[in-house]
Amino acid sequence: MELKACAKLNLTLDVLGKRPDGYHDLCMIMQSVELADTLTLEPNGDGALRVRTNLHFLPGNEKNLAAQAALRWWESRHQPCRGMDIAIEKHIPVCAGMGGGSSDAAAVLRALNEMESAGLPPQAVARIGEQVGSDVPYCVLGGTALAEGRGELLTPLPPLPRCWVALCKPEFSISTPALFARIDSVRLRCRPDTRGAVAALEAGDLAGVARRMYNVFEDALPDRQQARVKDVKNVLIQCGALGASMSGTGPTAFGLFDSEAAAREACERLSDLGGEVFLTRTI
Ligand code: C5P
Repeated sequence: MELKACAKLNLTLDVLGKRPDGYHDLCMIMQSVELADTLTLEPNGDGALRVRTNLHFLPGNEKNLAAQAALRWWESRHQPCRGMDIAIEKHIPVCAGMGGGSSDAAAVLRALNEMESAGLPPQAVARIGEQVGSDVPYCVLGGTALAEGRGELLTPLPPLPRCWVALCKPEFSISTPALFARIDSVRLRCRPDTRGAVAALEAGDLAGVARRMYNVFEDALPDRQQARVKDVKNVLIQCGALGASMSGTGPTAFGLFDSEAAAREACERLSDLGGEVFLTRTI
């Protein structure tokens, strides 16, 4: 079976506090975009799980979230793991805050639900994903959604009016656990207006959503990295973005555009600065 695993963006991201279990309570609006990895799953009959990708530095064994998802699937079915070869063609930048690994894991769960004719509703597939990572349940469902708790408590929202997205992942990568650890010790200067953004979604007001986008992790980035993310956001706004923000724990920053030409122009300007640059659309 061949299927796509879409990237996600955080339109807003707020950290509400640290929990006794070591995780943080979050409040964020998630949005799927067309930029996607392609997965091919093939049962191999020898009981082993193998992952192959076009990026040599990604794990090919059970450390890969795609393989972990398959293991959790068989556990939840109370059946022995049937072997499978998983090939992933990566397009979503890695360690970028765009949910690439989580989305690959979610795609494996969706595929197994179909290949095994299990017929689980998406919410039940999402619950299996919770054990793989906090963003996996959202990646199973996709679209526009409010995510709370660890990220696994999902409320579908009215879809963001379709728009163009220019995004740039700067040259460095961010460790998600390390940035969560930093956020506990920084004073947050600004919080996103998630309630206002939800109201704007309900009104179908793209500019209203874009204006309210913010991600508190920007304040937790080390100075040089923070400056680089700010530079990307400035270019996006100068090129006519309705709003710009960082996604997840970064460092990818993106802008929403109602004009394709302006989004293309932003991508050209961003390419001159370096990093991985993509033009995509919201789903
Ligand atoms: O759930 P996931 O494995 O993706 O999380 C990776 C790490 O990110 C966790 O071990 C934790 O350090 C941090 N995290 C957190 N609060 C969340 C989600 C993740 O502190 N809500």
